[in-house]
Amino acid sequence: MRHFLTLKDFTKEEILEILDTGLEIKKNLKNGVYKKELENKTLAMIFEKSSTRTRVSFETGMFQLGAHALFLSNRDIHLGRGEPVKDTARVISSMCDMVMIRTFEQSMIEEFASYSKVPVINGLTDSYHPVQLLADYMTLMEHNATENLVAAYVGDGNNMTHSWMMLAAKFGFELRIATPKGYEVDAKILAECLEIAKQSGGVIKTMNDPKEAVKDATVVTTDTWTSMGQENEKEERIKIFNGFMVDDAMMSLACDDAKFLHCLPAYRGLEVSEEVFEKHSEIVFNEAENRLHAQKGLMVWLDKQRG
Ligand code: CP
Ligand code: NVA
Repeated sequence: MRHFLTLKDFTKEEILEILDTGLEIKKNLKNGVYKKELENKTLAMIFEKSSTRTRVSFETGMFQLGAHALFLSNRDIHLGRGEPVKDTARVISSMCDMVMIRTFEQSMIEEFASYSKVPVINGLTDSYHPVQLLADYMTLMEHNATENLVAAYVGDGNNMTHSWMMLAAKFGFELRIATPKGYEVDAKILAECLEIAKQSGGVIKTMNDPKEAVKDATVVTTDTWTSMGQENEKEERIKIFNGFMVDDAMMSLACDDAKFLHCLPAYRGLEVSEEVFEKHSEIVFNEAENRLHAQKGLMVWLDKQRG
């Protein structure tokens, strides 16, 4: 049995297998073919933070696979009132076939997984957002943008940045990360990614100048400057991140046909300008839709591993 807590635990080949499964399911769906590959199964979805895409994509995806998903916010279950994670894990995994968790600490889902009898999926923690990277890479595959990939991430060193780093390390592409001073990526995760990248030939560079990062990049990406849980820092962050907005001037430094990705929700006038966002909205909303298809691929793949 496998859990999906970070991309670190997966080989490039396994990630591509998951994405191919998702793309096949997507093709079938577009042709009106719904294969009930997870019939009679249930997915428990524990949300300790807000969500639009993660909730809708997992719940819809499970329905389309013939399965059922339960939405469990921490207001609804005893986890939010102090029932231990290890007890919650043993109860839920005795009744459900898979669990998706969105929470704060990565250690919470690791503890949950260690007590779970069924696969656990990371639906975002403070440290990582691996299911988003499945959708992002699927989108690049569909847009023939995976060859000679040079990605530039501009903004806060956060969960999205860490997952981009892990993907670059596994897949062996170049990733340049520009953050303001003091908002760099986690040093321990960076060191781990650099170690993994030695095997793949991946290059991960960190810097404080966004222009240096985007120069000749084939993909430019960003994320909110204020992640969930940091709301009280918002005003201060807006001042500090001045100069880090992905706007037309910044995109003009990248390759001519550079792609722009954003995991959403996007804050126009902050991390991205209205013009850049709207110019690239087709790929960005395909990226959002691909959450549905990539995660269906993941759940079918994880279910197969259980035999
Ligand atoms: N990108 C993403 O995870 O969106 P939600 O927070 O809406 O789920
Ligand atoms: N970094 C953002 C991602 C939202 C999908 C957050 O954690 O809020």
